[in-house]
Amino acid sequence: MEIMNEVKVTINVNGQQVTATVAPEESLLDFLRNRAGATEVKCGCNKGDCGTCTVVLDGQTVKSCLVLAAQADNKQVLTVKGLEKEQLMQDLQVSFANHGAVQCGFCTPGMLVTAKTFLEKNPQPSRQEIREALSGNLCRCTGYQKIVDAVAAVAAGKNDK
Ligand code: FES
Ligand code: FES
Repeated sequence: MEIMNEVKVTINVNGQQVTATVAPEESLLDFLRNRAGATEVKCGCNKGDCGTCTVVLDGQTVKSCLVLAAQADNKQVLTVKGLEKEQLMQDLQVSFANHGAVQCGFCTPGMLVTAKTFLEKNPQPSRQEIREALSGNLCRCTGYQKIVDAVAAVAAGKNDK
């Protein structure tokens, strides 16, 4: 059986170039957490079901457990932390807090990344559209209502309760 060699990859993570030699099967999620120190990206299921590992890869949201680190070579990743400089992300964070949309908080980084990217594409969504946009992100705590409320409030331009 042919054994594939390790590969050297460089990924821009929140503006920092991170280079490492990785096994071909190493996921982008493991690269972010273990090599780039981006522990704000959470590992829930590690198989594409929960969405808590969601990041932006060259402008597209991806579940980083489903992407190989080698596939992200020479690309740019933004995590929830990297997106915090943007007003829309700050508004979402405040709104999540105000609406009780953060309980244990484990799903929150992925929810926020998904919600921000969605609102950029669709700034005036219906509640149904918000639900559909977040349908790949699972939450065990909130029952989703509060999360939809939080995103809808940002879309409506108000962060109050
Ligand atoms: S950890 Fe990636 S989808 Fe669950
Ligand atoms: S707040 Fe706990 S999983 Fe969503």
